[in-house]
Amino acid sequence: MRISVILAHPDPTSFNHAIAQTAIAAIKSNGHTAFFHDLYQEQFDPILSCEEIAKGSPLPAAIRKHCDEITAADGIVIVHPNWWGQPPAILKGWVDRVIRPGVAYEFLEGDSGEGIPSGLLKAKTALVFNTSNTEAQREKDIFGDPLETIWKNCIFGLCGVTNFHRRMFTVVVTSTEAQRKGWLNDIRKDIDIFFPKVK
Ligand SMILES: Cc1cc2nc3c(=O)[nH]c(=O)nc-3n(C[C@H](O)[C@H](O)[C@H](O)COP(=O)(O)O)c2cc1C
Repeated sequence: MRISVILAHPDPTSFNHAIAQTAIAAIKSNGHTAFFHDLYQEQFDPILSCEEIAKGSPLPAAIRKHCDEITAADGIVIVHPNWWGQPPAILKGWVDRVIRPGVAYEFLEGDSGEGIPSGLLKAKTALVFNTSNTEAQREKDIFGDPLETIWKNCIFGLCGVTNFHRRMFTVVVTSTEAQRKGWLNDIRKDIDIFFPKVK
C-alpha cells in the first residue's frame, strides 16, 4: 500500500515528529511505501490564490505533486498538535490547496455546488494523531473536541474516506518519558491494525 504521511509541527525535536517517525517506520516495516511530507521543513506555502480555486485550474508543480500523491494513496496519516482547536495554519493551507475539487471531491452532474459532494479519494482509511495540553474530559465538555469534527466529518467524510481513526495524546507538557513511550507504542499498534504487514 501507499500511505501519505503529513506532518505539521515546526520543531524537529517535538513529540509530533517522534509520532510521525514512528508511524513511518511501522508503515515501512509492514512492507508499505510512505509518501512523507514535513510541511514546515519543506516550507509548504499555505496560501490558496484566487487563480487556483476553480476545479481544473493549472497548479504549481509542488501542489500538483501533493495532489498526485494524495490521489494515489491507499491510506492517509495526519500528525499535528492542537492549536486553538484547529490544525496549525500551514496544514489548514495544505487542506485548502491539496484536498481540492476534482482531486478529493466533486459535485455530481447537474449540481451547482450546493448539493452533497461525492468523495474522490481512493484511500478508505485515515489516521489522525494529535497532541494537546488539555485533559480529555475538559476538551470534550468545554471545547467540543473540534478536531474530531474537522477531520472526521468536514474533511475525510466529505472526501469518501470512511474508515477514520483518531487519537489525541494529552497532556503532553506534563507527560513522563514512560507515558510517551507508551503513546508511541499505540502508534505502532494502530499502524499494524490499519496497515497490516504484507504477507
Ligand atoms: C499557537 C498554539 C496554540 C495552542 N493551542 C492549544 C489548544 O487550543 N489546546 C491545547 O490543549 N493546547 C494548545 N497548545 C499546546 C500544544 O497543543 C502543545 O504544545 C503540543 O500539542 C505539544 O506537542 P509537542 O511537544 O509535539 O509540541 C497550543 C500551542 C501553540 C503554540
